[in-house]
Amino acid sequence: MENWNPEETIGLLEIEVKNMINNMRHSDIFRGFLNGSVDIDGYRRTALRLIANPLNRIEATPELMSRVYNPIPEDLSALNHSAYSEWLVQVSKYMPHNPGFIGKSIRTIGKLAHERPEYKSLIEHLAIDVQEETGHHKWAIDDAFALGVSEKEIKGTRPNQAVRQYLLILEDVVNSDTPLGFEGAAYILTSWAAVRDEGFMYPMTVNLIQKSGIPEIKNAVSVWQNHATLDQEHIQDQTNEILKTPVKYGDHQAMARVAKDIGKVYAEIPEHLPLRTFVRYLKSLRA
Ligand SMILES: [Fe+2]
Repeated sequence: MENWNPEETIGLLEIEVKNMINNMRHSDIFRGFLNGSVDIDGYRRTALRLIANPLNRIEATPELMSRVYNPIPEDLSALNHSAYSEWLVQVSKYMPHNPGFIGKSIRTIGKLAHERPEYKSLIEHLAIDVQEETGHHKWAIDDAFALGVSEKEIKGTRPNQAVRQYLLILEDVVNSDTPLGFEGAAYILTSWAAVRDEGFMYPMTVNLIQKSGIPEIKNAVSVWQNHATLDQEHIQDQTNEILKTPVKYGDHQAMARVAKDIGKVYAEIPEHLPLRTFVRYLKSLRA
């Protein structure tokens, strides 16, 4: 069981792509992004969760509760706006680390390359990726600016719990003795972006523009529009690289494990947003 059939690796990664998209659809906020607007049940659940949190200090007046159960379109837009702009800020917190992770995985894979010459082509491919992934977080920052988020707010926001876990998982794998595991994360993060029938990013962008009610949304989706285009090519190249690299069983396991872990935490990012502007909006509805 020295080498593993790479087609089986791709098969398992494809299952994890589907799992990740399912996890995203189970998140009220992520499903809202995909459909362009959070649905009424998702709105109620989110509003009730925020009202129940004593840190938000929202007074649950009868007026407010009646609006929570019978929201008007402006209420949905207020939640969409708050969630989407805060998500962009979180995206700007993980994206700048991606080129660094690729760079570290090149170094750790490189150390193994003397006994595994078949890794050479993958390393060359990763070296191109470092260049191509650099600076992408700036799109997320520009999109956040378009929605009125200030530079001070971006600088003052820490990566949330799910983003911190994302960063820890990737830091751990690129420094481990199975650094090829990083390819598992790269594969599913690229796949949800790539345009395909069962995809997420392309319909999300179109629906947000058409249905979210977020002012200036057209100027706030460049990070996804650019990735939807770029990643079609990336996923093809990456699949080809994986298919021609016979990997050890441990590497194969690491790819599948990291893909699963990242698919889970990525889908949780919007669930940990404090939704500050929406909390202020709810407070304004109480009287
Ligand atoms: Fe990117």
